[in-house]
Amino acid sequence: MSFTVAIDGPAASGKGTIGRALAAHFGFRYLDTGLLYRAVGAKVMAGADPVEAARALVAEDLEAEGLRRPEVAQAASRAAAIPEVRAALVDFQRAFATRAGGAVLDGRDIGTVICPEAQVKLFVTATPEVRAERRYLELVATGHEVSRDEVLEDVKARDARDSARAAAPLKPAEDAVRLDTSELSIDAALAAAVAIVEERSGSG
Ligand code: DC
Repeated sequence: MSFTVAIDGPAASGKGTIGRALAAHFGFRYLDTGLLYRAVGAKVMAGADPVEAARALVAEDLEAEGLRRPEVAQAASRAAAIPEVRAALVDFQRAFATRAGGAVLDGRDIGTVICPEAQVKLFVTATPEVRAERRYLELVATGHEVSRDEVLEDVKARDARDSARAAAPLKPAEDAVRLDTSELSIDAALAAAVAIVEERSGSG
C-alpha cells in the first residue's frame, strides 16, 4: 500500500525543508517537484521549447548545476503556467507517489491535482518577508551572489504568477492542514508536521 504526504505552499515557505525531514523521519521517499519545473526552466533558458523540454525530461536533468538560481526559478514559474508542460510531468509524479511504501511530494498542486487522494495534505506558508529572508540566507550560504531585494522580488513575482495561472494554480486543497511557519523554528515546524502525519496515519 502507498501512503502519500502532499505538501504545497508558496516559494521558500519551508515546504522543502519540512518535506525532506518528514521523509527522513518516517523512512519515506521524497520528491521536490519544483525541481522538475526548474529543470524545464533551465532548458528554456538554453533555448529549448518548454513543452518539448518537459516531455524529454530525464532524471539526470534534476541534478543539473544551478537549478537553485532565482533566474531559473522565474523561468520555471513561467514554464509552469503552460498546461502542456504540466501535463507532461503528471505521470512521473503520480508514479513516484503511488509506488509501495510512503512518499512525500512538495510543490504547488500536489494536494489539489497530482495526489488528490493523499492521506496527508499540508499547506505550508509564511509571510513574504520571512520567506525571502530565509531564501536569501540559503542562497548566500550556497555561494550565490544575490541581494535581499532581488530575492524578495523573485518570491513575490513567482507567488503572483503561480497563484493567478489558470492551470493548477497554487492554492490549498480543501482538506489541507495549514502550517504557518513565520514564527516557527525549523524544529518546531517539523514537530508540528510530524504530529499531523502521525495523527493521520494512526501511528501517533
Ligand atoms: O518549489 P520551487 O520554488 O522550486 O518551484 C519553482 C517553480 O516551479 C514555482 O515558482 C512554480 C513551479 N512549480 C509548479 O508550478 N508546480 C509544482 N508542483 C512545483 C513547482
